[in-house]
Formats: sequence, C-alpha cells, structure tokens
Amino acid sequence: MSVHTDVKKVTTNTLQKMKQTGEKISMITAYDYSFARIFDAAGIDVILVGDSASNVMAGHETTLPITLDQMIYHASSVLRAVNRSFVVVDLPFGSYQSNSKEALASAIRIMKETGAHAVKLEGGEEILESVKRILAAGVPVMGHLGLTPQSIYKFGTYTVRAKEEAEAEKLKKDAHILEDAGCFGLVLEKIPALLAKEVSESLHIPTIGIGAGKHCDGQVLVMHDLLGINTEFKPRFLRRYLDIHEQTTAAIQQYIHDVKSRSFPNEQEQY
Ligand code: KIV
Repeated sequence: MSVHTDVKKVTTNTLQKMKQTGEKISMITAYDYSFARIFDAAGIDVILVGDSASNVMAGHETTLPITLDQMIYHASSVLRAVNRSFVVVDLPFGSYQSNSKEALASAIRIMKETGAHAVKLEGGEEILESVKRILAAGVPVMGHLGLTPQSIYKFGTYTVRAKEEAEAEKLKKDAHILEDAGCFGLVLEKIPALLAKEVSESLHIPTIGIGAGKHCDGQVLVMHDLLGINTEFKPRFLRRYLDIHEQTTAAIQQYIHDVKSRSFPNEQEQY
C-alpha cells in the first residue's frame, strides 16, 4: 500500500516517508473552501494557499500586492474544508523580509488565525535568520528557490532561472542551507530539470517542482492553470486537465438562453 492511501492525515513525517520510499508528492494551490474541499476529498497530499491568489483571485499582475490579512482570509477558508491534506500557506511579500521578528510574528498570525500546518517563504541564505526563528517556534517551514515571484522586479522576467553556473551554484548552496536549518521541504520553480535532479538527489527533504522537471519528489500546479480556468497562461511546463473556461462559458450561455426563452424555470422547478 502507498503512503498516499495509507494515512488519515498527511504530515511532514508522511512527506518525509514519501521521499524515502520514492512515492511522488501531489500538491496544488487552493484559495477557497469549495475547491479545497474537492481537492482534499480527491486525495491531494498537499494544498498550498499560494500568494498566487494575488494573480488568480484578485487579478493583480504580480504577487506583491497581496497582504497578510488577505492571505489569512484565503487560508482560513481552505482550512475549514480540509480533513486529510497538509496545508502550507505562503508568507506574502512584505510580511517577512524586514527582519526575523516580523517574520515570526507573521508566521504566528497565519498559524493561529487559519489553522495552517506550515508556512512557505521565498529565498535562501538571505532569509535564513527568519527561517530559523520560525522553526524555533515550532512552525514547519517550506523553502522556495529558483523563480521566486516576489522578486520579479529584481529578475525582470519570468524565464527559467539558474541556467548560468553562478546562479545554479547559489541555488544548490541555498537548498542545503534550508535543509540544514530544518525546512521540511522545498519548492523548486522554473529551473533546468538536470539541476532539479541534482538538488533533489542531494537532499534528504522532498523537493516539489513547478517547471522543474520530472526528477523532483513531487509536483505543484496552480489550480487555475491545471483546471483551465486561466487559459491565457500557457507555459511549456503546464499540463491542463480540464477546460473549465470553455465549459463554464457554454453553461452560462445556455443559462442566459433558458432565462430569455422562458424555459427556466419550468413547472418542476417552482413552488
Ligand atoms: O503562490 C504560488 O502559487 C506558489 C506556487 C507557484 C509554488 O508559490
């Protein structure tokens, strides 16, 4: 039997066991009660309340505008739906970069006000003090390296990161720094597959890839991309499993037609 079907609740220990046994970890983003309920019941291992909510829920161009209060609203909705999945919540831009005291205060608010199981921060050595302080308070921390969207104005582009040797070397070093600090896992975003392979094989903690190839210990996708809600975003790494945009458009057009033509509601649909 796989770890996946075996456990009533996914924990950091479950994820560690999956890494050891070679069972891949499934992770998806969610931002609200209704979708989180479906994903949890479907058996997803990890739900990420990502700061991508800033893009897909609020319509911002970047993840930078979303606030800690808004993340707490999304995360508490998700947590009310979840029975089995492990839920990680992003610390948003501006809630942890100033100093480790602020980082800990933000992480504590997320844990207390949402019931989350862990937090995720973007960056390596530069956020080490904050990572250590949050971990020392007993809060599990997930790292995030490679394309870190909170630094988009520093990068200037959403293209693949760490193609050059210097950046790849820093990423490898950062991955080990985060593991040594005590992070339970690491998101690797949009980096070459061979680099992700090397990092994944050299770490004891699981790596979860997005645009980082098949050698990561798990995969994560943004739910709006996977379900075809957002159809303009078509990166090479994305596999779309539904076309909700097309199906919803057809359903709404049918509804409009039925209302206008007086076929809805019919005799059975009224009191
Ligand atoms: O915010 C998010 O959705 C993320 C994933 C892309 C990993 O951080």
